[in-house]
Amino acid sequence: MSLVTPARPRADIEARHLRKDRWWIQPLIIAVGFTAFVVYSTWAAFADHDFFADPYLSPFYSPCLTDGCPTDIAWASWNLPNLLTPALIILIFPLSFRATCYYYRKAYYRSFWLSPPACAVGEPHGKYSGETRFPLIFQNIHRYAWYAALVFAGILTWDAVIAFDFNGSFGVGVGTGVLVLNSLFIWGYTLGCHSCRHITAGRINNFSRHPVRYRLWGLVSRLNAKHMQWAWVSLVWVALADVYIRLVATGTIHDYHHIF
Ligand code: FES
Repeated sequence: MSLVTPARPRADIEARHLRKDRWWIQPLIIAVGFTAFVVYSTWAAFADHDFFADPYLSPFYSPCLTDGCPTDIAWASWNLPNLLTPALIILIFPLSFRATCYYYRKAYYRSFWLSPPACAVGEPHGKYSGETRFPLIFQNIHRYAWYAALVFAGILTWDAVIAFDFNGSFGVGVGTGVLVLNSLFIWGYTLGCHSCRHITAGRINNFSRHPVRYRLWGLVSRLNAKHMQWAWVSLVWVALADVYIRLVATGTIHDYHHIF
């Protein structure tokens, strides 16, 4: 006698879904948010001006690596074609980290590819090959992109530190707060990454033998539970930080600060 239970046939429903709520609102909001960010950040990356208002450096342009960078904040002065702005040189690192993030994958698969657009809503595609083939197999680089993201979180933290340095004097300005918050949000997002959770203790079978790693895993897991929120707040804030510094650099607004 066979103990194998025969596979249950899939529900034979003509309708694409039976949901009565407004399930399309969330993918729509996400699509609008992503599009706005991509349009603005692409413009900012090519602009190559007004990305520095002493002592604030736009996070899009950090680290600043070309010969067009102000000497105070330049990490290098590579002589590259004008088209290659400092933002475009480093773009591959944050882009590969964000684009392969587990949360963002879910978000843009739903919002742009409708694959599927929401839970219990049929997708328009006839076939599904998952992430096992080209090009989506490249999503697996996420765990390596995380190491680069750690370096960038450190660099953005350094930018927040030098935002207290007003020509050699210690000061605090609105821009200082903007960059400190930016680095905090980036850390919250980076350390809450699923890969970070795996690295801290994901392969440990016996937590009691690794109390430190267990502790770290607990902290990372708490961030991970709000990963979507960290993903959005860090994304929006990095753009707002660029906007703020640009407005100060062009003289459109004044940066209120106090020097001690
Ligand atoms: S899963 Fe989102 S940053 Fe790693």
